[in-house]
Amino acid sequence: MKPADRVAKLREELAYHNHRYYTLDAPEISDSAYDKLMRELQTLEAAHPELVTPDSPTQRVGGAVLEKFEKVTHRQQMLSLGNVFDDGEFTEFDDRIRKGMNVDQVQYVCEPKMDGLAIELVYEKGKFVQGSTRGDGAIGEDVTENLKTIKNLPLSLSGKKVPPLLEVRGEVFIRKADFKRMNEQLLARGEEAFVNPRNSAAGSLRQLDSKNTASRPLSIYLYEVGVVEGREFETHVEKLDALAEWGLPVNPRRNVVKGFAGVKGAWSALLAERHALPYEIDGLVVKVDRTDYRTRLGQVSKSPRWAVAWKFPPEEMETKVERILVQVGRTGAITPLAELTPVFVGGVTVSRATLHNEDELRRKDVREGDWVFVRRAGDVIPEIVKVITAKRTGKEKEFVFPTKCPVCGGAVKREEDAAVQRCTNRACPAQLAGRLRHFATRTAMDIDGLGEKLCEAMVEKELVTSVAGLYDLDLDTLTGLERMGEKSAQNLLDAIVKSKDTTLRRFIYALGIPDVGEATAKALAEHFREVPALMNASLEDLQKVKDIGPEMAASIREYFEEAENRAVVTALLKAGVSPKPPEVVAAGAFTGKTIVLTGTLSSMSRDEAKEAIEKRGGKVSGSVSKKTDMLVAGEEAGSKLTKAKELGVKVLTEAEFAALLK
Ligand code: IVH
Repeated sequence: MKPADRVAKLREELAYHNHRYYTLDAPEISDSAYDKLMRELQTLEAAHPELVTPDSPTQRVGGAVLEKFEKVTHRQQMLSLGNVFDDGEFTEFDDRIRKGMNVDQVQYVCEPKMDGLAIELVYEKGKFVQGSTRGDGAIGEDVTENLKTIKNLPLSLSGKKVPPLLEVRGEVFIRKADFKRMNEQLLARGEEAFVNPRNSAAGSLRQLDSKNTASRPLSIYLYEVGVVEGREFETHVEKLDALAEWGLPVNPRRNVVKGFAGVKGAWSALLAERHALPYEIDGLVVKVDRTDYRTRLGQVSKSPRWAVAWKFPPEEMETKVERILVQVGRTGAITPLAELTPVFVGGVTVSRATLHNEDELRRKDVREGDWVFVRRAGDVIPEIVKVITAKRTGKEKEFVFPTKCPVCGGAVKREEDAAVQRCTNRACPAQLAGRLRHFATRTAMDIDGLGEKLCEAMVEKELVTSVAGLYDLDLDTLTGLERMGEKSAQNLLDAIVKSKDTTLRRFIYALGIPDVGEATAKALAEHFREVPALMNASLEDLQKVKDIGPEMAASIREYFEEAENRAVVTALLKAGVSPKPPEVVAAGAFTGKTIVLTGTLSSMSRDEAKEAIEKRGGKVSGSVSKKTDMLVAGEEAGSKLTKAKELGVKVLTEAEFAALLK
């Protein structure tokens, strides 16, 4: 294709997606797919300057004005930001500025790049008079009434030296927790949920009836100033501080840094924190701090030369569903999975996404052959967010959920009040393979080399019929497996033998008792200290363990009531697996003693103090009696302290207690 033709084609596509994104709030492609098209066009235009036209999407901020809102002309153009994606591209940005300003190092202010909608607020004599969207950068839409509904937007400014006119820019967004709650409420009312916070923030701000907007949990942060009268700022930091002093919400998270190293440090730190933040971000905005530098640097078409967005790896991408299949887990749960055309998202290549259960599959209406948005945020399992229905051809195939276990043919049952369907045949090979894999996992028995494929192969060849069978394996049997050399077989056997020497906590977790995770396993190990005590514990005994409620206790009891499970545990112990009880620190001040805690401790919680005492062989009791050996008295200790003194019980201050723990 000739460059001119490609340029025309790209412009047409970008215009279409711009309209979907900015005007309709209904994007069909991911941001990164859009960025890619834009970058291709930018590259082509750079190589062929004669093809650049004033109406190219590279020359505009994008987005038309909806007719239904009044138009607002921004006193000063609302700019957009250029993007950089790696060290090299940021270095180029930094080099340009250093060269332009003829300095060795530049001071930058780094801010989270909020993933919402850009807006402008106008305050006259300290009163909020008008608010608008960015629109095409020159002209936006009047959304004053809607903005007024945002709870953290001040209707009048406060503080000293309020300017007669202030045009201030920022971002409207929805916090993750608000978004979750809002979607739960929508679903409960039988309405459709939103795909992500950005789209719902944008959609909410474009409601003609501001009552609708008021019902949406929008937030706002301000980060730039357009026109301001009667006030000058020498730096960006000074500007942000002034905004905050006037009572405007300013993101408290910002880093003032120097040069590439400083910015890279801020970028890495923010990326690490990304998922712990209460709102969604898609990168770091880097701005030159000095106002005089900004003025001298100016702008290129739609973006300033003094700021840039250093993007994070995308967490949402589009791809195709090749096939839908189901997986049978160790508890028999049948989970539908989508096999995807591999796509790079959230920093890894994803080729499968869970569909959770049949209800979820129906709700999202995912079909084989569909184009979808996949999302992978942090370490979370990749998920299909939404089907791109506009891309359907009619050839997509609906998935028929199996009524029999696809592995063993056993009956599939849906539990009461639950969305999961389970294979009811405990001897199902898929369940056994799952139990083996879980048993071997690093935080359980830690059997190196015993992965998913190998577990499946061993079950298929009937080398084992329970996890205890692992300890009967020998070299001959193992080398009979496909692609299993003598060396790897020996390594595996060694790892199996090594696993016998384990801790009670790991052992309990490895059994795969339904609902018993690592934390519960630890609590059980600390409480019961040996296998038989746990096996024979009554419901009542179990509920005495910290954080174990009636449901969990019932699940554990049920597990140990099954003869088959008891037989497996016994066989494991017989095979030489010897789980050690949690360590007790060598005899000391607390060994065999009964201690009562009272008042508030400043350096630790009650639970932590209790754990520390128990770890050292002591017992913690709730009330003071003649049998009490010591009372630890924190701040505001009351009647227990009085009683201890009456009975002549030894009283420790928090400092004395802490000293004994050392
Ligand atoms: S400054 C000329 N600061 O990113 C400077 N923008 O791609 C213009 N954004 O339109 C904006 N967080 O919607 C700035 N801390 C931040 C931002 C931010 C998010 C958005 C804003 C802007 C877009 C540019």
